[in-house]
Amino acid sequence: MKDLDDLFEKVMSANIFVNRDILRPDFIPDDLPHREEQIRKLAEIMAPALKGSRPSNVFIYGVPGTGKTAVTKYVLGKVDAEGRKKGQTLNVAFINCKQDDTNYRVIADLCEAIGERVPFTGLSTSEVLRRFISIIDRSDRSLFVVLDEVDTLVKKTGDDMLYKLTRINDKLSRTRISIVGITNDLKFTEYLDARVRSSLGEEELIFPPYNAAELEDILTRRAQGGFQRGRLDGGVIKLCAALAAKEHGDARRALDLLRIAGELAERGGDQKVSEVHVRKAQREIEKDRVVEVVRTMPLHSKILILSLHILSRQSSKGGTTGEVYDLYCDVAKKFGLEPLTQRRVSDLINELDMLGIANARVVSKGRYGRTKLVALSISDRNLRDALQGDAGMSSMIGK
Ligand SMILES: Nc1ncnc2c1ncn2[C@@H]1O[C@H](COP(=O)(O)OP(=O)(O)OP(=O)(O)O)[C@@H](O)[C@H]1O
Ligand SMILES: [Mg+2]
Repeated sequence: MKDLDDLFEKVMSANIFVNRDILRPDFIPDDLPHREEQIRKLAEIMAPALKGSRPSNVFIYGVPGTGKTAVTKYVLGKVDAEGRKKGQTLNVAFINCKQDDTNYRVIADLCEAIGERVPFTGLSTSEVLRRFISIIDRSDRSLFVVLDEVDTLVKKTGDDMLYKLTRINDKLSRTRISIVGITNDLKFTEYLDARVRSSLGEEELIFPPYNAAELEDILTRRAQGGFQRGRLDGGVIKLCAALAAKEHGDARRALDLLRIAGELAERGGDQKVSEVHVRKAQREIEKDRVVEVVRTMPLHSKILILSLHILSRQSSKGGTTGEVYDLYCDVAKKFGLEPLTQRRVSDLINELDMLGIANARVVSKGRYGRTKLVALSISDRNLRDALQGDAGMSSMIGK
């Protein structure tokens, strides 16, 4: 296996990273620049737990990658450490509602956080909730319940569970719980009952997007521990920061760009990470994003995409909205589905356009007026990857 030997040799000799983990999204650094204000405010809100009183509930908003999860974990860690110094431990239940997306799982996780095992199934949610309440009331420690990405739970199951959680204190005599809700969906509160909204939002904390200069600082500090000295070309961090600043100031995206650029350099046996690696990393991330977006789309959108693909093989300019609709109807019927109305399909086209999956542009047809041309803007290869799991679809994509 000469090829493999070469590959290992290249990777070993490249020595780009000192500690790649520092650049991963789940690493919590001990230093979170440009979040001093949010850290202080959250610490202020949580600190009363150290005196045994109930901290206010708090609602944290901000677009993806603005440090909400990292700051919350960081501050909880600090409060906990301070408590330990004084001989008291806090109870913390950190729940990611995207993973635990049923009310049962949330309550079961709350029980586990306070040391009570709950069977995976077999009990009703209200029974588990009753158990939870009776157990926490045996202790006089405060309990922090962090509901990260709480919008996903509410969109799926409604706000009943949140309502119950905000009311639990009425049923407790000794202990007190405080809720930290985190969301990156800024319109999320519209889904909430007014009572839930006001009790959850006793305090509110906003995490604004980072600008390019701030992202540069963040990356520079993370790169110090992550990369070997002198391995980053001059413009690399600046470029990662600039690209991520365009992407709504997302620190996760900035870190991904930097880490993947480093991995590409390593794989290529290059001694230094250059802007070329960053551009390549950007294309890889973009490809993964597109594949994931298409893969999780509803069936009719996939059928529409497939129709656009078929049209684009006939003409690179794509087709008019009328042509697209006719073909979409044919394909939908082939899959045994009742086609959606033209109006609905037109909405779906706009959605694809917004997501960068299709490109719809109005062109003038001289004295015949104007028409809209729609073309697919993702590669055949990405499309095939995205539709791989859908029986009968990937076989319709040309080689
Ligand atoms: N100020 C900062 N300094 C250093 N790293 C940061 C900073 N802010 C965010 N990060 C890093 O960026 C990544 C994304 O941050 P985090 O997971 O906290 O975002 P989020 O706001 O919770 O996003 P989402 O809404 O998608 O969950 C993490 O790796 C985090 O460590
Ligand atoms: Mg988060």
